[in-house]
Amino acid sequence: MSVRIIVGAQWGDEGKGKIVDMLSEQADIVARYQGGANAGHTIVFNDTKYVLHLIPSGILHPGTHCVIGNGVVIDPVALMEEIAMLERMGISIDGRLHISHKAHLIMPYHKMMDAARERQAGSIGTTGRGIGPAYNDKALRSGIRIVDLLDRDVLGEKIRTNLAEKNQILHALYDVEPLDVDAMIEEYVAFDSRIDPYITDTTALLNNALKEGKRVLAEGAQGALLDLDHGTYPFVTSSNPTSGGACTGLGIPPTSISSVMGVVKAYSTRVGNGPFPTELNDATGELLRSEGHEFGATTGRSRRCGWLDIPALKYSIMINGISEIALTKLDVLGVFSDIKICTGYTIDGAPVKSFPADVKTLDRISCEYMTLEGWNCQLDGISSFADLPKAAQTYVETIERLLETPITWVSTSPAREDTFRR
Ligand code: GDP
Ligand code: IMO
Ligand code: MG
Repeated sequence: MSVRIIVGAQWGDEGKGKIVDMLSEQADIVARYQGGANAGHTIVFNDTKYVLHLIPSGILHPGTHCVIGNGVVIDPVALMEEIAMLERMGISIDGRLHISHKAHLIMPYHKMMDAARERQAGSIGTTGRGIGPAYNDKALRSGIRIVDLLDRDVLGEKIRTNLAEKNQILHALYDVEPLDVDAMIEEYVAFDSRIDPYITDTTALLNNALKEGKRVLAEGAQGALLDLDHGTYPFVTSSNPTSGGACTGLGIPPTSISSVMGVVKAYSTRVGNGPFPTELNDATGELLRSEGHEFGATTGRSRRCGWLDIPALKYSIMINGISEIALTKLDVLGVFSDIKICTGYTIDGAPVKSFPADVKTLDRISCEYMTLEGWNCQLDGISSFADLPKAAQTYVETIERLLETPITWVSTSPAREDTFRR
């Protein structure tokens, strides 16, 4: 049994798309297990940029099959746009894309409720893609699933029941006009006719593939610190991006997992609100943002930037069981003469021994830093660790030593080819 899980080890946008695309060459199936179109996974090859939100990052490899698992929440509008984008770019998905019949659907009212809640005080800074309200309905057991699309009567009844409640909530709390039941039913029936060929029992598909010795790569979206259970709650997403989520989100047993790779950006970023101990609200943070082009792939929002955070990463390694790291965006640090790494947290001078659970405590953290020499140059064209400037090698080796986890891949540009194995 061979499932390799790829997780984001920070607050998302670590470069998972690039790493999954690269490793897809060695996989038969790439499967997304949670999240929805809140994700934005960027892949650059042959000077063309692809941004995927729902379809796994393995889709650009013609021989690789891709699964959207039961743990994903699917927005029909986003999925159709993505399929159209791939078709325009000459990438065929027929016979290669498999959508779980158990996945939940994002409905128009989920996006409206997400947007309306975001207008209230203390907002999370969500992507506005309806993620929280859709997972809320899943847990409430009033969600509408892909399988419901297959029976028009069932679909109609479920939409009717949901709208009877949702229209009242939207009107009473958010002053929104009622949504039309029949129009919504027609919209989702039309969606079914488009995606019907892709709908299948992906749990059986994956487990049969594993029995046949096929190699499966599970692609996480978001990052460990945005995990609903383990992240900086309530400033998190509404699913489990951590490795445990792969089992429930795909219907594969824990015993099928062979390894967990964490994707780590060479510094930290976060988009949206919430605690961020190493955040730099100064010219250095601004320089990280401009050099790293740190603007969201889904919403275009500016990403908050800061130095690498070892205590947060150690926590992430622990909860995910990360056995190896792919380090991305090392090139971005080439503009700094001094590079800092946060090596520990304190509160009122006392060391913080475990990652705090509440926002109030996280906001009181002071970071202890070590400073390393920068390499002050670009890393263009470098294709081996030995060819990196000495200071860049030291930076990588220092992180590895502090995290006690091997860094097996290093990425030095957005392009597929600029990644090397150590
Ligand atoms: P994901 O959500 O984890 O897949 O990451 P995103 O695609 O949202 O954000 C990562 C951004 O960094 C994308 O624009 C990538 O093209 C880019 N990127 C990935 N690896 C590297 C790298 O090594 N160097 C640079 N400069 N950019 C990179
Ligand atoms: P990828 O897969 C970075 C953040 C949002 C917000 C919080 C909750 O590209 O790494 P949500 O819309 O999920 O309810 O928003 O989570 N967020 C992400 N941040 N990368 C992502 O995905 C994210 N998906 C959600 O900004 O703070
Ligand atoms: Mg992203």
